[in-house]
Amino acid sequence: MTLQTDNVQRILAIDSALRDRAIKVIPGGMYGHTRVHGGWLPPSFPQYYSRGAGARLWDVDGNEYVDFLCGYGPMIAGYANPEIDAAAKVRQELGDVLDGPTADMIEAAELLVDTVAHADWAVFAKNGTDATSMAVVIARAATGKTKLLKARVAYHGANPWFTPLMSGVTQADRANIIEYDYNDLASVEAAIQEADGDLAAIIATPFRHDGWADQEFADVEFARGIRELATRYGAALILDEVRTGFRLDPRGAWEGIGVRPDLTAFSKALANGYALAAVVGVESFREATTGIYVTGSFWHGSVSLAAAVKTLEILRSPEAVETMVELGTMLGDGLRAQAKEHGWDLVISGPPQMLALRFEHEESAKAGFAFADAAIRRGVILHPWHNMFLSAAHTVNDIERALAATDDAFAELDAVM
Ligand SMILES: Cc1ncc(COP(=O)(O)O)c(C=O)c1O
Repeated sequence: MTLQTDNVQRILAIDSALRDRAIKVIPGGMYGHTRVHGGWLPPSFPQYYSRGAGARLWDVDGNEYVDFLCGYGPMIAGYANPEIDAAAKVRQELGDVLDGPTADMIEAAELLVDTVAHADWAVFAKNGTDATSMAVVIARAATGKTKLLKARVAYHGANPWFTPLMSGVTQADRANIIEYDYNDLASVEAAIQEADGDLAAIIATPFRHDGWADQEFADVEFARGIRELATRYGAALILDEVRTGFRLDPRGAWEGIGVRPDLTAFSKALANGYALAAVVGVESFREATTGIYVTGSFWHGSVSLAAAVKTLEILRSPEAVETMVELGTMLGDGLRAQAKEHGWDLVISGPPQMLALRFEHEESAKAGFAFADAAIRRGVILHPWHNMFLSAAHTVNDIERALAATDDAFAELDAVM
């Protein structure tokens, strides 16, 4: 396996033919954040991939990449992880969606309760949006109140309550949401006043990971403050760990600072890429959860639950997070040193295992896109406006290969900007 640092003119012929086919039968050819066209991703990104193994991906034309997106988070223990896939295969051969769940659901719930410090119970769904939405419904059922406080810009899913684009969304869909500013306790207090005694929940992510912005850690006073406010006003504190789950601290992202939410939403990395989401919660929310009606045709499918059991077993070992931190630090330090050498002011923010890049430049977005474009043509997948992800499957060799390519990418950036 050689990294094709000289192959800056990759061939994407099959990708291009697939795009021509797609545009005829899929509105826009592709939608959401994984679409390449329309300025969502740098133009040299392939739209279609064929396979993954470990921390490597191959596009449909056979080009190989060191990947730092991990499917935007779900891959955490390696693409096509043999142990996890073997556990999933056992269930696959016995039938996935049956008339009801298999014992895998109980085993996955037991593991979550055992792993996540505040969890006394768990319920499962498929997507992160299912989990955040369900957490809000549970909070409303438990409190009998209506209003939800969320941070401005923060992404919690793609349904009408949360989607960042208002096309097709009515004001009524948003009527019960009041926004606050992340890390600004006074704005939370003002939002609580606006809720006027009708506060059901405060939802927050463990750190601020909005796109197009530097990542920002939660101030300890802010995290403790919203915990205290939620308790004081009889509301639920919901931690949205859909993106951060099991990458920061498998016991719960804020466990290290002694802040426990009432409800946590997980998805993405929970089953290493098999579709699964979960809400876990404290005892006092069990009864309300028993009383709501939530389900989905595929929510009890056994394949993803069996995959989750194996994934959680792997992630419970401290080694998993340690590897991600160590290699993310190596990547970040390497990129920072290269940027300096090439005279670029590169801002790297967020935890090392979920780092984000931004060029301090009058044309910041253009530089970010040009850099990620140059990197992907040299076999490395970086992202210009979204946080990236390390996995427990990345190796020192992956980082070294990536950094060899990014050095060239910086040289190209010097030439084009
Ligand atoms: C913090 C957060 N919450 C919720 C979601 C929604 O998850 P899904 O796309 O699986 O519905 C995402 C997805 O990126 C997310 O990052």
